[in-house]
Amino acid sequence: MTKRYKVWVSRPLFAEALARLDQHVTLDAEAIERVHAPEQLRERLAGVDAAIVSLSDRVDAATLAGNGRLRVIANLAVGYNNLDIEALTRAGVLACNTPDVLNETTADYAWALMLAAARRVGAAERWLRAGHWTGAMRFDDWLGVDLHGKTLGILGMGRIGQAVARRASGFDMRVLYHNRSRLPESIERQCAARWVDQATLLRESDHLVLVLPYTPENHHVIGAAELAQMKRGSVLVNIARGGLVDEAALATALVSGQLAAAGLDVYEDEPAVHPALLELEQVVLSPHMGSASADTRRNMAQLAVDNVLAGLGLGSQAGHPPT
Ligand code: DGY
Repeated sequence: MTKRYKVWVSRPLFAEALARLDQHVTLDAEAIERVHAPEQLRERLAGVDAAIVSLSDRVDAATLAGNGRLRVIANLAVGYNNLDIEALTRAGVLACNTPDVLNETTADYAWALMLAAARRVGAAERWLRAGHWTGAMRFDDWLGVDLHGKTLGILGMGRIGQAVARRASGFDMRVLYHNRSRLPESIERQCAARWVDQATLLRESDHLVLVLPYTPENHHVIGAAELAQMKRGSVLVNIARGGLVDEAALATALVSGQLAAAGLDVYEDEPAVHPALLELEQVVLSPHMGSASADTRRNMAQLAVDNVLAGLGLGSQAGHPPT
């Protein structure tokens, strides 16, 4: 079969996903993990009809300048703040993401971070591995914050937020959420969650999870003022995007005891982590891995392949414009 299209994959991907692409297109897949500088990205995109890219690839007007060939960009993520959708639309490039397949896995991970932060799992493990456990442990050592019976607040009640909420019933938690618009009652019932305004959410939540997309409007939606409004001794978890939180203000709130702990999977300037946060034992830090289960990452890769094939008119399934 003559292969009409050329596709670039910006990072190593599962063999089965690459093999499926390889059946239909001329494939150029990176064999080692690397971050592409804007100029490299521009060059790589200039020579292909479609590309599968990741969150560390920023595709904007400059990257697309002079590119008359590219037709499809498939992002290996549900979030797409690394893509300038307006610039892509102007250039006639279809942008796709990987919604839904990662909802449950990412919600699981929100709970992993919530539990780890509240119960001080990271600090305790570091202490044990450092050989500090002599057996003469004080009864009041390692005191954490309970989850059961407390109030869970969810800021951003999309599909992942709803999956986080559904898990709360096993912990007998009251669930509050804030979204710009209220969800239909049937969904609120399924999630056993009640809409409140943002101030109430901040004031009443013992554990606050951020699950909203990052846009210029919600840059630092949790800043010094919001942290001051939060319940004293509460726990903040961010599995969405780092730019939602003012990291310096968060470090200050943790040092002062306004917040008991935080669990962060995302950072404003990835892969850099704010140095003040790195210093704090009461923060659990992970390297943006919320969707990283073997099954889900495989499903995301296959969905990105579906998106490329559909976008090039080679597949039977519809592509997934960002939702
Ligand atoms: C997403 O899909 O947006 C996640 O943040 C990537 O793991």
